[in-house]
Amino acid sequence: MTRAPIPYGRQVIDDEDTASVLDALRSAWLTTGPRVGDFERAFATFCGASEGVAVNSGTAALHAAMRALKIGQGDEVIIPAITFAASSNAAVYEGGTPVFADVDPETLLIDPVSVDQKITSRTRAIVAVDYGGQPADYDALRELAAGRGIRIIADACHAPGATYKGRKVGTIADLSAFSFHPVKHLTTCEGGMVLTDDPEMAAHMRRFRNHGIDSDHRSREKAGTFAYDMVELGYNYRLPDVQCALGIAQLKRLPRWLERRQAIAARYDEMFSEISFVRPLAARPDRTNAYHLYVIRLDLRQIKIDRERAFDHLRAAGIGVNVHYAPVYHHSFYRERFGYQPGFCPHAEAAYREILTLPMFPTLSEADQNYVVTTVAELSHL
Ligand SMILES: Cc1ncc(COP(=O)(O)O)c(C=O)c1O
Repeated sequence: MTRAPIPYGRQVIDDEDTASVLDALRSAWLTTGPRVGDFERAFATFCGASEGVAVNSGTAALHAAMRALKIGQGDEVIIPAITFAASSNAAVYEGGTPVFADVDPETLLIDPVSVDQKITSRTRAIVAVDYGGQPADYDALRELAAGRGIRIIADACHAPGATYKGRKVGTIADLSAFSFHPVKHLTTCEGGMVLTDDPEMAAHMRRFRNHGIDSDHRSREKAGTFAYDMVELGYNYRLPDVQCALGIAQLKRLPRWLERRQAIAARYDEMFSEISFVRPLAARPDRTNAYHLYVIRLDLRQIKIDRERAFDHLRAAGIGVNVHYAPVYHHSFYRERFGYQPGFCPHAEAAYREILTLPMFPTLSEADQNYVVTTVAELSHL
């Protein structure tokens, strides 16, 4: 009997989701309608923030955050070396210069000591990536930023519902960006949102997602006018009502899914405590982890194969392992445009050679999880 491949992440769609989407499809508003505000309020309330600005991807959310902070030519933005390229691309879209900081080897979160070393008079923002679902060390980053005109953007795409010292991600940074891609905690197919407590920045981002136009279709209809002004160069980053309808339905199950992810992680941790060459990432006691990813480091001194062989073995066994991520500056765009060289962030580079992302999604069965752990254990016999 061949077993169905186990992906590393997978969405959960049920009848409530399809009913919500169908309602939206049959309504007068497929886009720029009332469900956008409904979803923004529901997600912002879940996270404890006062403003939510829905956009059509997590990347657009990061881009909107960069615009809200008025990042421009000559401004430096500090980003952890281990993240998805979008965390850094957003600064580049606005003409900013990405400066990569190293990561804490135990958590792969941005290392405040490295950030401190990379701050210059041109530093305008730090992107705190809540890698894998664990919040970055916001207090340490805030301390570095304080009094220097440096703002903090949370790339919280991995971490809706996670907490740092009792505070929910989405309420800690100046702006927090989320993604609703299908592998994330809740999905709108593609989609994203920026949370902030600053109403001016929220208004700016609402304009930015709509070409930089100072009003929207519904507000003009209400005012009985056709006239509008485009006051800055924006984009069409709008999230349609049909997708917001899916997000609204999904959000209701998010607390349950977070518990499931945490239970799966605890079970992996327990099973891997018996396997000496497997090191799960460290979980800091002052935080709760939303576990978008479950990442292990292989102690390559204890096994005879490298990470590539390990990856191939697990993939051949039908396990959708992945690697999150190569240091961003390894990408040719970053090497060629910004002149980054190997050796820039040694902890990130060492981690990249050893990490594997294992399956983690709310419907992962115990039997499939056991199979993943057993197959990982085989790596020591290869
Ligand atoms: C850390 C991080 N930032 C940003 C993004 C971009 O999100 P999206 O795919 O919704 O544009 C992702 C998505 O994978 C991500 O993992």
